Order: sequence, then structure tokens, then C-alpha cells
Amino acid sequence: MDERRFVVWGSSGHARVLRDMIGTNDRIVALIDNDRNAEAIQDDVPVAVGIEGFRALLEKFRSDDLRGLVAIGGGRGADRLEILDLFAASGIETPELIHPLAHCAPSSVVGKGSHVMAQSVLAADARIGRGVIVNHGAVVDHECNLADGVHVAPGATLCGCVRVGENAFIGAGATVLPRLHIGAGSVVGAGATVTCDVPANTVVTGIPARPVST
Ligand SMILES: CC(C)(COP(=O)(O)OP(=O)(O)OC[C@H]1O[C@@H](n2cnc3c(N)ncnc32)[C@H](O)[C@@H]1OP(=O)(O)O)[C@@H](O)C(=O)NCCC(=O)NCCS
Repeated sequence: MDERRFVVWGSSGHARVLRDMIGTNDRIVALIDNDRNAEAIQDDVPVAVGIEGFRALLEKFRSDDLRGLVAIGGGRGADRLEILDLFAASGIETPELIHPLAHCAPSSVVGKGSHVMAQSVLAADARIGRGVIVNHGAVVDHECNLADGVHVAPGATLCGCVRVGENAFIGAGATVLPRLHIGAGSVVGAGATVTCDVPANTVVTGIPARPVST
């Protein structure tokens, strides 16, 4: 199989995970970070800075020979989507990455540029949009629907038929009960148990989860 060449935007913890997920035939040829003090995650690949670094990269490589990964985690779904759009506009393919130890039901759907990590589950008819992260050990149960830019942190559980709006962030180990709706841009704190719908742009924590800020 031909070597695939990746450019990774973001050089921190999530980039390390993606580096270890790509195949042995694949290679990261460029890293970009907006922070000029970002650490290199691979000795032989320096970190280029921001949009200028990206433009310089396009002079060095053919864009149709590159694949783009966005390694921006946390609740920064809007930033993930913006960089995915930049890659696409530059002619760089943005594949989804699914760890071989994740379980994705045959009827589940994974959007472009999304990452499904080891030990996570996408059950029957679950749908995740673009630029979504389903992190280690997270469960997205049957018929859940996650909009673009959502991040489900490690060990979180979305019970069946949960809907999550664009760029929402579900914290580590949180549980969302069946058929609930988490509004766009909202944050569910780590360890929370959500028992009723969460409006857009609201932070909830605790058991049962209650709004702490908007
Ligand atoms: C809920 C959250 C977004 C709040 O962040 P924040 O606004 O920076 O909050 P702070 O850390 O300033 O804490 C504010 C208060 O909320 C409490 N708090 C923070 N997170 C909490 C949580 N998940 N559950 C219950 N209480 C929490 C703090 O103890 C503090 O209480 P105090 O005022 O009595 O001292 C954040 O703590 C959180 O849970 N993020 C999820 C992190 C995660 O899962 N990361 C995974 C990365 S892959």
C-alpha cells in the first residue's frame, strides 16, 4: 500500500494520539500550530507556525498528495471545523480516522475529519458529523446524532437517541440519559449525569446536572 502523507494542525496531546493511530505505512510530513512555543511531537518534523507556516507548506508539497488531520481537542469544535474547511479549500483531503479497536456498527455513519478512538463504541444507526471526536472508551449508543464539531471526552456515555448540537463538549465520564438534547456550544462537565435537556451555550455540572453558567 502506498505511503499516505499527513499534515497535522495542532501539536499537543491529541496530535500524539493521532500520530499513534495512523498506519505504519503512513507518515506525518508536517505539523502546524498557532502557538510558536508548541512542542514537536515527532523529532524529525518541526512545527510550522499558523497560516504562514501552512502557506509555506503548500509551496513544498502538492496538496493532492497530502491528507489533513486537525488535532485540536477540548471544546474547540469551531476551530476544528475552521481548519477542516481551510484544508478542503486548499485541496487537501480530510479523512476520518477510526481506531481498529473502536466498535463502529455497520449502520453507523462517521463524518469527514472525525476521530473515533480506541475502545469507543458507535452503536446502531449512530451518526456523527464532521470534525467530531469520540474519545477513548466513550459510548455513543444507538440512534444518537452528533452535529459537526462535537467532542465526547474519554469514558463519557451518551445513551440511545441522544442529540448533541454543533461544537458541544461532553466531559470525561459524563452520562447523558436517553433521548435528551444537548444544545449547540454547551459543555457537560466531567462526571455529570444529565437528566433533562440542556439549552444552547450552557455549562452544566453535577449529578443531576445543573446549569452553572451560560
Ligand atoms: C465544568 C468545567 C467546564 C468547568 O470549568 P471552569 O469554568 O474552568 O471551572 P473551574 O475549574 O474554575 O471550577 C469552578 C467550580 O466548579 C467546580 N467544578 C469544576 N468542574 C466540575 C465538574 N466537572 N463537576 C462538578 N464541579 C466542578 C470546581 O470545583 C469549582 O468549584 P468551587 O467554585 O466551589 O471551587 C470543567 O471543570 C470540566 O468538567 N471540563 C471537562 C474536562 C474534560 O472532561 N476534559 C477531557 C479532555 S479530553
